[in-house]
Amino acid sequence: MTLRSVRKNEHIAHAIETGQEKKHGFDDVQFVHQSLPNMNSERVDISTTIGELVMSSPIFINAMTGGGGERTKDVNQRLAEVAKRANIGMAVGSQMAAIKNAEERESYSIVRKVNPKGVIIGNLGSEATVEQAKIAVDMLEANALQIHLNVVQELVMPEGDRDFSGAIDRIEKIVNALPVPVIVKEVGYGMSKEAAKKLADAGVSIVDVGGFGGTNFSKIENMRREKVLQFFNDWGIQTTSSIVEVVKSQPFMNVIASGGIQNALDIVKALSLGATATGLAGYFLKILLDDGEEELVKEIESMHSEIKMLMTALGVENVNELKKVPLVISGQTYHWLKQRGFS
Ligand code: FNR
Repeated sequence: MTLRSVRKNEHIAHAIETGQEKKHGFDDVQFVHQSLPNMNSERVDISTTIGELVMSSPIFINAMTGGGGERTKDVNQRLAEVAKRANIGMAVGSQMAAIKNAEERESYSIVRKVNPKGVIIGNLGSEATVEQAKIAVDMLEANALQIHLNVVQELVMPEGDRDFSGAIDRIEKIVNALPVPVIVKEVGYGMSKEAAKKLADAGVSIVDVGGFGGTNFSKIENMRREKVLQFFNDWGIQTTSSIVEVVKSQPFMNVIASGGIQNALDIVKALSLGATATGLAGYFLKILLDDGEEELVKEIESMHSEIKMLMTALGVENVNELKKVPLVISGQTYHWLKQRGFS
């Protein structure tokens, strides 16, 4: 096993151990009950779009398990089976290991083999070159490519990167060169309006906010450090605030919500704040590893039916209309948005 695949296997174990923090801010967001929704639940349509990608569900499995090796292949294969059966999209974890070592490619391409017609999204870090980005897309016949930004995770990693210069230039080149959409994502620290502006200026049209409050990579990496960097454990923009930062500051950006999402209510709140889709990582991984594929498919199916119930109660027929429902925002999210000029 390479050092990278040992570290990535530790990520899975530590992610399950540290769990989901539920500090994402969704408890600060309340719907206003409507007694006369004038709706028939049969009319509810939960399909959506991420840029030009048409998705039959607003839920997708977000990037997990980079690193390569048998474990990556096994988890990727099982997640792909779940994605196919539940008819949802799926992003794979970082493909850098497979770009550096062609023998690892099968651990990723298995996802396309299992799910030939599904929406599959590739993943690389912002150190990637245009050439590497093209290989990543070809490896999966990917419908889109995620580029992840994870500065704080790298800083907490003892062997992590320390030089983050040039990322935006590389991203711009990749956006211009790829035949598929590029999604720039965070990994649990959230995206600010300032970062969203730089990305928009570089031609990025889809952002996954990867907000604070779910899987916490500072805690995961701190578990592997002798000298803990405690101050990074609470570092990041909550998912709710981050969605609004990007939606309001970049009205033409497609915003994907992620970071601690665990249920239908979180999902419908995220869509009401202006996201067009939601990515779930840690919560799905835990169900897969603890209870298996069957249970994960059932969980996604019940989320789908609960999303429909919530949309019925709110009187909306499709995901787009959710953006118009009135919300009451309190607590930390309220204060954050007020001070950041979004009230
Ligand atoms: C991740 N995540 C991730 N993201 C990414 O862009 N590339 C990657 O390789 C990985 N690897 C990875 C492994 C494991 C085990 C987990 C749990 C997560 C981050 C993930 O996509 C997501 O942004 C964060 O986990 C926040 O979402 P959740 O987990 O709170 O839903």
